[in-house]
Amino acid sequence: MNPNKALWEKGDFTAIAAMMRESGAALVKSLGLTPPARVRDLGCGDGTTAVPRAQLGVDVVGIDIAQNLIAAGNARAAQLGLRQLTFQEGDACNLHTVDNRSFDFTLTVFGAMFAPKPHDVAKEMVRVTKPGGRIVMGNWIPNDPTSFVSQLLKISSTYSPPPPEGFVSPMTWGVESHIVERFGQAGVPREKISMVKDTFTFSSPKPPTHLIDVFRQFYGPTMNAYDAAQKNGKVDELHRQLVDLANAQNKATNGGTAITATFMRVTVDV
Ligand SMILES: C[S@@+](CC[C@H](N)C(=O)[O-])C[C@H]1O[C@@H](n2cnc3c(N)ncnc32)[C@H](O)[C@@H]1O
Repeated sequence: MNPNKALWEKGDFTAIAAMMRESGAALVKSLGLTPPARVRDLGCGDGTTAVPRAQLGVDVVGIDIAQNLIAAGNARAAQLGLRQLTFQEGDACNLHTVDNRSFDFTLTVFGAMFAPKPHDVAKEMVRVTKPGGRIVMGNWIPNDPTSFVSQLLKISSTYSPPPPEGFVSPMTWGVESHIVERFGQAGVPREKISMVKDTFTFSSPKPPTHLIDVFRQFYGPTMNAYDAAQKNGKVDELHRQLVDLANAQNKATNGGTAITATFMRVTVDV
């Protein structure tokens, strides 16, 4: 089994995505897409950004490596009556079922950054996007104290076994020099790439401890960290660190959760 696929099928990202819907819709609105644009959403999960885009009347194909999330996305599309939205299984490192230059827009929000071969991912995104089209990536930023998920993954990694040789951290997609180098290798000149910091909010009527419980129960990387910490007798320590992180970043004043996390928004004109 492909370990990248196994990691994301291990949990159930729909539980976390439920806390990301408002920002997903706001991000889509800011893209200014109008029909008849054809959009590819890579690492789409169950459609945090794909659903609001299809609701604008735009044709959307979501691609994700996790079969359970494809099924959840197709169920959402059917329930909402969105016939112009389909979800398919695929790997952002090798989009072999997708024709060259077949989409006006390729969007990937905290999706393709998790695929293990970043140079292949950049090449594939450029290949499937039409000249004159656009790629937009949302990527967490390493070592940014306000980039909540990167902080959560950093803490989790200190309790997890070392990654296999050759592993490239997904967080490198949040670093300007890597972004420019990867798209450069894919044939995109520097002046066609822009990067700006943006924010995405995790919101819930429940307190931050609940958010951490959801990550613990459903988010593959965090599940693995708890499994490893369990073996070392360090579960309580890991849990305390993650709860402290969530509490420190929470801005809600009503007993709920509102964590506004910084990410790198990358726009590439193809
Ligand atoms: C953090 S989730 C984000 C999901 C969705 N974009 C959202 O915002 O709700 C990361 C997603 O990337 C998917 N993913 C990871 N590696 C992938 C790959 N190589 N190809 C396609 N999807 C991948 C995971 O299955 C998961 O759905």
